[in-house]
Amino acid sequence: MKKQILAAAIAAFAVSGAAVAHEPGDVILRVGAAHVAPDVDSGRIKVGGAKVSGSKADVKDDTQLGLTATWIVAPHLGVELLAATPFTHTIKVKGVNPAIDGTLGKATHLPPTLSAQYFFLDTKSRFQPYVGVGLNYTWFFNEKLSSKAKANNFHGLELENSFGWALQVGADIAISDKLFLNAAVWKIDIDTQAKTRLGNTPVKVDVEVDPWVYFVGIGYKF
Ligand code: NI
Repeated sequence: MKKQILAAAIAAFAVSGAAVAHEPGDVILRVGAAHVAPDVDSGRIKVGGAKVSGSKADVKDDTQLGLTATWIVAPHLGVELLAATPFTHTIKVKGVNPAIDGTLGKATHLPPTLSAQYFFLDTKSRFQPYVGVGLNYTWFFNEKLSSKAKANNFHGLELENSFGWALQVGADIAISDKLFLNAAVWKIDIDTQAKTRLGNTPVKVDVEVDPWVYFVGIGYKF
């Protein structure tokens, strides 16, 4: 029953807005909250080249101001850029040495993502669900060791930048001719290697960060 009501509401919504459209030439700029939730798969931590059994790294969540812009290039087709204020993630390690279990440090990144989008419904629909496929570049900077890691003789922290695919689903819902509500989810392939030194011994770990990125915001059509 709930499904039928929802379907009817969407259908009514979809046909009711003659003046609204996602038509070629339109640019939709959206502002909102972007949450990056890493779905981490960590390799073993290598100390001086030897894998430490049972060791692993973890990367925690962050929320920032997100911006997305879609340019409708043809009926049903858009090109979207995802941008945001820099995300800062806490990096944790476990299993190398009980003295340093916990927060190794933190790293900041910008994950610009360019996607091609397909909008399923009529260009005049008020409800515009879409899927997207694209490319992500994640630039890590401002990596910092925790004071605990430094006190335990760790020096320097660096994360490799990442280039990978991105998949997306989302929807624009018109609330007037120019204004939209938007919700979108991405799965982004972000793989990195974190490097530090314990005394003079190199310490490295390969981490698949592969986050889910959630966005909710408001859009304006130009
Ligand atoms: Ni990956």
